[in-house]
Amino acid sequence: MKTRLMAVLALVMTACCTNQTPKEEPLAATPVVHGAEILLPAPDLSRGMTVGEALQNRRSWREYNPEPLTMEELSGVLYAAAGINRPENDHLTAPSALALYPIRVYAFFKEGIYRYEAKSHKLVRVVEGDHMAVSGGQPFVGTAALNLVYVADRSVYAGKPIPMDKVTYLCGQDAAGYAENVNVYTAGTGLRSITRGSASPQLLQTLGLDEERYNFALAQSVGK
Ligand SMILES: Cc1cc2nc3c(=O)[nH]c(=O)nc-3n(C[C@H](O)[C@H](O)[C@H](O)COP(=O)(O)O)c2cc1C
Repeated sequence: MKTRLMAVLALVMTACCTNQTPKEEPLAATPVVHGAEILLPAPDLSRGMTVGEALQNRRSWREYNPEPLTMEELSGVLYAAAGINRPENDHLTAPSALALYPIRVYAFFKEGIYRYEAKSHKLVRVVEGDHMAVSGGQPFVGTAALNLVYVADRSVYAGKPIPMDKVTYLCGQDAAGYAENVNVYTAGTGLRSITRGSASPQLLQTLGLDEERYNFALAQSVGK
């Protein structure tokens, strides 16, 4: 009896008092396959630092290594930029003037350019091949794993009594919200990013978009 009691006590001591932290599940790191579509996994909203820590960490990065983002990281970045966080009205993680959402998000990889579709949380290929230089001219642009380009579709303002210069201004403000969501997300999850204010004049042509309707709003490099 005494021996059994000792054994139970020993077990309890091992379980409670060894200061061992619970074994954490390793983060999934699924490689991205650049097919016609990239179906992103649901974002893991429990990852990363507190918002306060992420803000403390936020800065612009111009140094990147070529390591690609994993599916999980890509999912988090795009959810931060423009993910639907209220399915009841399809509103996004970023705000939008008049809730018109004129911003389209394009993801440039070495393998091709994709458009983000928030409803199905997926990327749809628009053009194959390396067009990174079209997303910006600074040398680090080509080394970052991902470049995001925010393009405004001004047609969503049709019928609104708002002058065109104000529309362009508001679209830029919307894009800044998307980009800053990403900056805070990357700062909080060990990634790097920078907001950028220019892209190549070839951008709209490369994306097959009409300049009467669309304009470049903002760009952003993201990586490690
Ligand atoms: C709208 C906007 C456009 C920017 N464009 C560029 C750019 O084209 N190239 C660049 O290297 N940095 C760009 N930046 C980053 C700023 O240079 C950077 O935020 C600033 O130097 C402050 O540094 P910090 O972000 O590390 O605090 C841009 C930032 C903003 C907000």
